[in-house]
Amino acid sequence: MSLEAVLARIDETLPEATDRLFELLRIPSISTDPVYRGHCARAAEWLADELRGLGFDAATRPTPGHPMVVGQSGGQGRHLLFYGHYDVQPVDPLDLWHRDPFDPAIEETPAGRVIRGRGASDDKGQLMTFVEACRAWKHVHGALPGPLTIFFEGEEESGSPSLVPFMQAHREELSAEIALICDTGLFGDGQPAITTMLRGLLGEEITITGPGKDLHSGSYGGAAMNPIRVLTKIIASLHDAEGRITVPGFYDGVTELPEAVRAQWQALAFDHVKFLGDVGLSVPAGEHDRTPLEMLWSRPTCEVNGIWGGYTGAGFKTVLPSKAHAKISFRLVPGQDPQVLRDAFRAHVRTMVPFDCEVAFHEHGTGPASVMDIADPAFEAARAALGTEWGRPAAYIGCGGSIPIAGYFKEVLGMDAMLIGFGKDDDQIHSPNEKYDMTSFHKGIRSWARILDALA
Ligand code: BES
Ligand code: ZN
Repeated sequence: MSLEAVLARIDETLPEATDRLFELLRIPSISTDPVYRGHCARAAEWLADELRGLGFDAATRPTPGHPMVVGQSGGQGRHLLFYGHYDVQPVDPLDLWHRDPFDPAIEETPAGRVIRGRGASDDKGQLMTFVEACRAWKHVHGALPGPLTIFFEGEEESGSPSLVPFMQAHREELSAEIALICDTGLFGDGQPAITTMLRGLLGEEITITGPGKDLHSGSYGGAAMNPIRVLTKIIASLHDAEGRITVPGFYDGVTELPEAVRAQWQALAFDHVKFLGDVGLSVPAGEHDRTPLEMLWSRPTCEVNGIWGGYTGAGFKTVLPSKAHAKISFRLVPGQDPQVLRDAFRAHVRTMVPFDCEVAFHEHGTGPASVMDIADPAFEAARAALGTEWGRPAAYIGCGGSIPIAGYFKEVLGMDAMLIGFGKDDDQIHSPNEKYDMTSFHKGIRSWARILDALA
């Protein structure tokens, strides 16, 4: 009966929960840009305060980058750890937003009410689903669902550089029986899901230098090598006509999907026409002989995330630039080692740089791919709880995105992680006008209450 009381409390206090989320959303905690450092610290303090208010023994913890937040509550039963990240992606291009990204609001849309703002879905709205479930639980039971460790990170969107050293240094404190991560999505339009596969990531930035300074393209063009030409040739070389990545050794260690998983994914009846249609496309761009779900969840990819050089301002300038740059990322799958592939990528690029030009590499974050072992009965218990809340059975799914900590929980702390989230494909995470459905927030909180009840 107490579960019913917790759920009723969640329903009654949804407006206050939304207000609290708005407070967090107003803090522009963009982790990748040093200008926002103070705001990241402020978001961490805000969360530590919230946790203390709920009765956690909580504090922010300094790292060489942005602070972590760790909270502990005691009690009897299974020791759970909950992870979320309070940092967000940059907001550019700002002119494509319909409102200030850090002035959140509830908007009525044809598909229902949404919370609009940077971080609404990734990941502030999601992490607050768990905090709010704890709040309602505490109100009804007089105590938190313990023993429980809360762990919030502020560098997830910038490759989690401080994460592994922090986990290694605080092994005891961060060890629990199982980790819960709320940073993934529902399947399709509202089917609850537990994500069991995540891709890894490797980020590289390259700068090609041609002439020692910018030149007049009439006086030098044709005779002097243009670094943009070199860069675009390198980029064009990264995929072959079949959509496969050409870096030598790239597919070493990559295995085919087990038949059982392939069959299970087939049964999900993913509508790839709608998937691409929703973003204005119709022609799959990846490996020719793969289904879209297989590509997204289980195949490695290479994308250019940014490219710049020369004159890009208003009007026109006949310049032959000295430098050209690109940010390139690879999504990785189990069997691929990020460090080995970094070296392979660099070696491949070097073979394509003319003798009189130079290439410089700058490394960005890496994280391994991860596959969860779902043998722990907590998985089936959580799946049942999700099914009850959403009125549809929960699916085991893959995820094309990366959450570095999922792999590190296993690697560093020997813990399995259960990834449950309520985001939707159209949340526009990392894009202008990010949103989180009000139903995701509300039913997300209710889902955690049910899961905590089932695992307690
Ligand atoms: N929440 C996302 C991961 C995600 C993406 C889940 C898409 C579900 C669907 C996460 O915050 C994220 O964006 N991670 C980055 C990690 C990177 C910067 C190391 C990513 O995947 O690009
Ligand atoms: Zn996220």
